Amino acid sequence: MTDMKAPVTAPLVDPFGRTIEYIRISVTDRCDFRCVYCMSEDMNFLPKRDLLTLEELDRIGSAFIARGTRKIRITGGEPLVRRDIMSLFRSLSRHLGQGLEELTVTTNGSQLAKYAGELADCGVKRVNVSLDTLDANKFRAITRWGDLGKVHEGLAAARAAGLRIKINAVALRGVNEAEIPDLIRWAHGDGMDITFIEVMPLGDIEPMRIEQFLPLSVVRARLMDQFTMVEDSYRTGGPARYVRVGETGGLVGFITPMTHNFCESCNRVRLTCTGTLYMCLGQEDAADLRGVIRSSESDGPLHTAIEAAIARKPKGHDFVIDRRANRPAVGRHMSVTGG
Ligand code: GTP
Ligand code: 5AD
Ligand code: SF4
Repeated sequence: MTDMKAPVTAPLVDPFGRTIEYIRISVTDRCDFRCVYCMSEDMNFLPKRDLLTLEELDRIGSAFIARGTRKIRITGGEPLVRRDIMSLFRSLSRHLGQGLEELTVTTNGSQLAKYAGELADCGVKRVNVSLDTLDANKFRAITRWGDLGKVHEGLAAARAAGLRIKINAVALRGVNEAEIPDLIRWAHGDGMDITFIEVMPLGDIEPMRIEQFLPLSVVRARLMDQFTMVEDSYRTGGPARYVRVGETGGLVGFITPMTHNFCESCNRVRLTCTGTLYMCLGQEDAADLRGVIRSSESDGPLHTAIEAAIARKPKGHDFVIDRRANRPAVGRHMSVTGG
């Protein structure tokens, strides 16, 4: 990241000395796909009346920026299915260059053809698009009803709008395992970076996660047979660690919550669409900010609540994927916390 401006007020530092400067804001738990590692087929979604308004999300995001947040990532569910979502990007974009260095989004790409231009207008420079396979039938099987063609249209629109793209692919044993080198060649061929993610035990799903889990240490070792990979110092403020591939010139990232715990450098917290602040993706403890903002027009109590929450940020998650453990590590699905 580039140099930051001095925060308006005291930065947020947790009990382990980690400065919190990245907030992920989930704007909806709904999604137009049902990825098999993320959701069960028949999900119960939150009633719309429980959601924070876009103005309330902006208010909380702005309070974090006042406390040194440099990066905001809008997540979901699928963030671009929330009605009028561009007004949130537009309002948060006023902070760009005024403390906020990056405003970005993680999307499944299904609505990108519609929104890529507007995102770029709002100062978004780069987007992360989740895509686990290039095989349309497999894609439909993984997402349960996604249309790969629509995602390709979205990617083309993002490129045309000048957005930099990173592909996120969850590594799935026996599903996209054999396709990983092709995914890398495809992404790099189109000027995109690609990151692989280990499946995490979040929420009940029908398949067993142990059946899906593919350690990235194995993937990486296999890739060394085909590619020259050199460790790269590229950092985004996210958990991925990168290598540059000699044959393609592009970057491959690895997100390894299961085989290598990156929590010691955690710089982020997550806000759900109902105003619950989770200090860790892999723990249950949370703080309700909705009640706080609705009971006072002044931001004083909000800052107090945020400080109290950060003071409880846990050291990290303790995910395990174990045949004997018949429950996920955390009850809520990824689509609730926004990844
Ligand atoms: P960049 O800005 O490109 O680095 O993105 P990012 O990795 O910060 O965000 P993205 O939404 O692309 O997330 C990719 C994956 O990383 C998702 O599966 C997230 O759940 C996971 N991830 C992000 N932060 C954490 C974290 O603190 N802990 C764990 N366990 N996973 C995380
Ligand atoms: N484990 C790992 N990654 C997941 N994602 C969704 N659910 C899981 C899970 N259980 C990924 C999506 C998207 C990102 C936000 O999180 O594929 O790329
Ligand atoms: Fe939707 Fe993303 Fe979950 Fe897939 S991983 S169901 S696209 S929220």
